[in-house]
Amino acid sequence: MSHPFPELPEAILTREVSAICDRYRIEPEEAGKFLEHGFYSQPDLLSKILERYPDGDITKRRDYKAIIKSVRKKVYYHLRQYQSDSQKSGELKKQLEHQVASSSDIHQSRQVIQDLLMSHISTKERSDDYPVFYKKLFDMIEPPRTILDVGCGIHPLSYPFGEVETCPDIYAATDKSQDVIEILKIFSPLAKPTRLMPVCESIADIRWADYLPNGMDSFDIAFMLKLIPVICRQDRDILPHLINVPARRILITASAEAMTRRKNIRRREDRVLRDFIELAGGNIIGKFTITNEFGYLIRMGAGGICQSREHAADSSRFY
Ligand SMILES: C[S@@+](CC[C@H](N)C(=O)[O-])C[C@H]1O[C@@H](n2cnc3c(N)ncnc32)[C@H](O)[C@@H]1O
Repeated sequence: MSHPFPELPEAILTREVSAICDRYRIEPEEAGKFLEHGFYSQPDLLSKILERYPDGDITKRRDYKAIIKSVRKKVYYHLRQYQSDSQKSGELKKQLEHQVASSSDIHQSRQVIQDLLMSHISTKERSDDYPVFYKKLFDMIEPPRTILDVGCGIHPLSYPFGEVETCPDIYAATDKSQDVIEILKIFSPLAKPTRLMPVCESIADIRWADYLPNGMDSFDIAFMLKLIPVICRQDRDILPHLINVPARRILITASAEAMTRRKNIRRREDRVLRDFIELAGGNIIGKFTITNEFGYLIRMGAGGICQSREHAADSSRFY
């Protein structure tokens, strides 16, 4: 195999890859590609940098440092995206479409579902833990009949719809990302007999009553998985709206390690979750932990569902 950086000294390259991997949650091979792009997209500059090598320390040069800084920035922004490889996600979406057209058996689509779960940073993190995730959930509560998944991402793809004991009647899933909702819409026939209802909407615009099927005043459970910290950072004003979610229980979780950096953030995120529980006036009835995720199962008081009850009469936009 030809060397990817023929002009960049191996020792320096190895050191930079390792420094990036120590700081960011990225594999060496991918970090190498970012470095390759950073240096080889500016060949003239690289030649200039290498002029004094090996007599001088090129890593002290301002232009060298500028390239490294820009590579790190690109790595950071790359890791901040939920679905960083849009081409791959697009191909998987087509595969899923094809699969759904040829068979309504969810088990036949296991591989493409798994590949899709691996394509989103949030579900990728728990891809090995999903059996444990659901075991822990069903140890705490009976499999729910009605679920509302807020800021769902593509997490609904992981739900054990294929098992009679666990498949719910209704699974309403909402996210502001059109991409994830499109995937869930394609997937929804495979969730049958569960009625999977994907809705693209920002939480700020949600009228909770619109999510309630006629005759229902609340869901058995709402999932807010790795959502509250995101809302706290990006859209704090809508937090009070979230506490009005029409659900008797909420499973809220957060990540223990930062999305981009190798940094333990559990204590900080725990504070965020607990503040939310206090704001919602909920009671913690269970603790939830898997590898890089932790959270609480909370029971909501009447305050948590009152607004939805008020509007229940004019519901049924989606049912
Ligand atoms: C960290 S991801 C978690 C995804 C999923 N709950 C999971 O755990 O796999 C946060 C999700 O919240 C969604 N989100 C963020 N702000 C939102 C908002 N204001 N309204 C609706 N969805 C939002 C994002 O699009 C993203 O899919």
